[in-house]
Amino acid sequence: MTMTDAATPRGLKGVIVADTALGDVRGLEGFYHYRQYSAPELAAKRTFEDVWYLLFEGELPSLARRDEYTARIAAARHLPAVVLDLLPAMVGAGTPPLAALRTALSHLAAVEAMPPTYDADPQTIRANALRLCAVTPVLVAALYRASIGAAAIAPRDDLGSAANYLYMIDGEVPEPARARAIEQYLILAIDHGFNASTFTARVVTSTGADVGAAVVAALGALSGPLHGGAPSRALDTLDAIGTPENTEAWVRRAVADGERIMGFGHAVYRTADPRSVMLRDIARSLGGPRVDFAVQVEATVERVLAELKPGRELHTNVEFYTGVVMEQCGIPRQLFTPTFAASRVVGWSAHILEQSTETAIIRPSARYVGPEPPQPVPLAS
Ligand SMILES: CC(C)(COP(=O)(O)OP(=O)(O)OC[C@H]1O[C@@H](n2cnc3c(N)ncnc32)[C@H](O)[C@@H]1OP(=O)(O)O)[C@@H](O)C(=O)NCCC(=O)NCCS
Repeated sequence: MTMTDAATPRGLKGVIVADTALGDVRGLEGFYHYRQYSAPELAAKRTFEDVWYLLFEGELPSLARRDEYTARIAAARHLPAVVLDLLPAMVGAGTPPLAALRTALSHLAAVEAMPPTYDADPQTIRANALRLCAVTPVLVAALYRASIGAAAIAPRDDLGSAANYLYMIDGEVPEPARARAIEQYLILAIDHGFNASTFTARVVTSTGADVGAAVVAALGALSGPLHGGAPSRALDTLDAIGTPENTEAWVRRAVADGERIMGFGHAVYRTADPRSVMLRDIARSLGGPRVDFAVQVEATVERVLAELKPGRELHTNVEFYTGVVMEQCGIPRQLFTPTFAASRVVGWSAHILEQSTETAIIRPSARYVGPEPPQPVPLAS
């Protein structure tokens, strides 16, 4: 028998497979952090570029460094024509922007000849990672616009990452509250423990492959509905409930039918998801009837679930208010997961940088459970 035995949990749940100085999640406490700082506190006090710098460089930047780094990121956003011109073809057949993003990032990494991390020096790996993080929101916005038959809007170097992202979607410079709401969402979503896409990025990097290959593989992992591929489902729940007075009957019927209420419950948190707590505050600061409705639904669903599923501690997860905040900020539903990717790519990249300093390939084993080998190979008949 190989070393994979009955003691190894399915899906490697809880198995420690790496050391990281980038952050962690404490599910029982409802706490997660980037390096030594609480992630929600970073979102409350810092810019997206500051947190990006923290994860790439290991410390928070001074004001002067922030300006320098923000300008560097802005300069790295511009797309070459060889990529830009192909974007309409990538979404042409009705391909969703998320799937097209995979193609676009792969194409950009290839045309820019990003070298295998195995052969590259640390500065090149860092520059490649920064480039891919800087262009991801640009590609998302351009692919979305191509999908609706509109021309791409060139990024503006004078806007921060969040404001520029919203600007590239509809051509309007967003008012500060809207830009800040999305910036705080982007900070909250950068990293979250050793999730499936982060693990994927590290596995690919451990083979010495280039940064583009690792990011594209991670994006593939993120696209699944069990990971990042379903943030609009919580909004579908709000749509299905329709009115506040309908909530209780709707939830009781859904639970009786064995359904799960989208946007509630979490695999790790056994208390309120700290991302949801902060996103609810952000949603409230944006205001509006949809937000009031969501807050009412949250209270009723939590009360009913506490009664129907005693002891399970089912609270809103990150998806519930993410949908509400994005909707209030004018982000179309098909961009919810790509927007998540535009943030998480920074987390993947920080893990790629960390993994690229390791020498061992990540190569576990599987237990063979098929017919007893070797059996004679029958001749073709
Ligand atoms: C996220 C999720 C998969 C985590 O699951 P988990 O922690 O492994 O929880 P379990 O599957 O062990 O469920 C524990 C109990 O709570 C119930 N439960 C969990 N989430 C529920 C939900 N959203 N609605 C109703 N019941 C729920 C389960 O039915 C189970 O009840 P039981 O013990 O009577 O069978 C789960 O909460 C879920 O499916 N949520 C809805 C989908 C969603 O919002 N996904 C986005 C996640 S960020």
